[in-house]
Amino acid sequence: MREELKKIETEALAEINSAGDKTSLEALRIKYLGRKGIVTDLFKKMALLSAAEKPEAGVLINAIKNTITASLDGKLGAASQAEEAKDRIDVTLPGVAGAPGKIHPITQTVNEICSVFVSLGFKIVEGPEIETEHYNFEALNIPLEHPSRDAFDTFYLKSTEKYLLRSHTSPVQARFMEKNKPPFSIIVPGRVYRPDATDASHSFMFHQIEGLVVGDSIKFSDLKGVLEIFAKQLFGKSTRMRFRPSFFPFTEPSAEVDISCILCGGQGSGTKGHSRCSLCGGKGWIEILGSGMVNPKVFKNVGYDPEKVTGFAFGMGVERIAILKYGISDIRLFFENDVRFLRQF
Ligand code: DAH
Repeated sequence: MREELKKIETEALAEINSAGDKTSLEALRIKYLGRKGIVTDLFKKMALLSAAEKPEAGVLINAIKNTITASLDGKLGAASQAEEAKDRIDVTLPGVAGAPGKIHPITQTVNEICSVFVSLGFKIVEGPEIETEHYNFEALNIPLEHPSRDAFDTFYLKSTEKYLLRSHTSPVQARFMEKNKPPFSIIVPGRVYRPDATDASHSFMFHQIEGLVVGDSIKFSDLKGVLEIFAKQLFGKSTRMRFRPSFFPFTEPSAEVDISCILCGGQGSGTKGHSRCSLCGGKGWIEILGSGMVNPKVFKNVGYDPEKVTGFAFGMGVERIAILKYGISDIRLFFENDVRFLRQF
């Protein structure tokens, strides 16, 4: 009997020793010490022994039970520790760094332009991208027969016909004037929409920045001064400007503003044997925005007395400015979300 008991003990200890985790150790506890376990069974079998054999057998079986229990407990403790250690965070390991994001080049350009005007005392104002015909056109003195009001040139919302996606940021001029009294200087950044076929220089959505200054003696020379500071800050101190007569229904007089070409410096001549500059086409000038003195009709439309107030306005395309500033060849690059392009800014 002694040998049989020894064999059970040796086998049990070997099994416990090679068990790797808590689950298999628990299974072994049941196998040997459970209600129908091998050691428990030995106690039951004692009933078959003679009265003389019983005491010794009891001592031996108890000893086996204790050895197996101790071995199981020791191994279980070690296994729990190992499992806990697996879940524990090692604070001394290097962290997993998320890839840092960047501000989109268009947003960077909007921020840069706005900060020039904010430094001149302008306030940033925004308006809705879904507009009414009234604010997008009528309030700005854009007549019914104007081509920009055609369905080919403006996105009308199907459901109502009354609403459209604003085709410029100018409607915010009228919205702001209706709610505020002069004097004020505002700058209005935002998205605008036109159903243009997409190509290297056209996108159905792009960004504009509108400016509006109204007071009791605002002059054309104020417009020139403000825009000159803007152009020099954005494109460099040596940048020159010129104003060409133009027409916009909401300004009178109106002017288109050019800056001296930032590639050839206004010379018009190309590099490396090219006779003409590739950016300005030899003209020496690049158009950057539209502007003018606010049309008295616009003042009347918003309830101002045109005899008492004057003002100037201007509007520019942000993508165009960014394209010039960074020498980008295709407007679509801004909207494709290719990080290889975006990472460069
Ligand atoms: N709204 C014009 C456009 O989208 C741009 C513009 C021109 C705005 C002259 C102005 C301005 O405020 O005075 O083409």
